[in-house]
Amino acid sequence: MDYDSLQKLYETRRNYSDFHNIKDKPLKEEHIWKILNAFTQPPSCQHRYEHKGFIVHNEKDKQYLYDNIATCCKDLEDYPCPESEEECDRWRKKGLRFGNINPQVLAPLVVVWYFDHKSKWDIHDTGYLDLGLGCWNSILTAQSLGIQSSFCGCFNWKYMQRYFDIPGIPFVITCYGYNNAKRSVAPFQEIHPGKVRPIPFDHMISNYKK
Ligand SMILES: Cc1cc2nc3c(=O)[nH]c(=O)nc-3n(C[C@H](O)[C@H](O)[C@H](O)COP(=O)(O)O)c2cc1C
Repeated sequence: MDYDSLQKLYETRRNYSDFHNIKDKPLKEEHIWKILNAFTQPPSCQHRYEHKGFIVHNEKDKQYLYDNIATCCKDLEDYPCPESEEECDRWRKKGLRFGNINPQVLAPLVVVWYFDHKSKWDIHDTGYLDLGLGCWNSILTAQSLGIQSSFCGCFNWKYMQRYFDIPGIPFVITCYGYNNAKRSVAPFQEIHPGKVRPIPFDHMISNYKK
């Protein structure tokens, strides 16, 4: 791919939160395969590929994720995510639950990425990087097929592990589908007030040409 085409792809990509549901606008099997295959394409440090994907197939489970797991408390510092259904209910009753903030988990394709280990201490630091490479490759692949995507890292890993009986340590969710333009997505500034994209050469790569 040439540079301009890649830039065009970036211009159209955003972290979408609201997707058409699967009955409305399903993903083609062939596209799902391509998106998932994209996780196998990037390199992995020492060829470990410690991350594994768990696909959430069931609509009920997606709804449960949306209602109870992928949410947080608006009144506590750092917006912690609930550790259990009881905790989520307590927050809900007291009006402390942050509403349904992650509708992307209702997308047609939802994958929970986890590390194939018993303890967090066993995960290599580079494992997180390897997973990030896979996520990004899948997101660009989806975008090139006209499919939108989203991340969700907003959940308590132990609650997620328990609910789905995941044989490892969940870390992040990636979601794919067609953006529901009618209900549209909150602009970046609304989701992250006061935050801007970094300015590359002043902010991130400080010694360029010094
Ligand atoms: C690891 C990771 C976890 C994220 N978790 C969430 C999340 O739980 N909910 C959400 O709305 N966005 C989540 N995001 C999306 C970022 O907040 C988003 O990329 C940022 O708002 C910039 O958006 P844009 O690049 O799509 O414009 C996550 C992104 C990453 C990389």
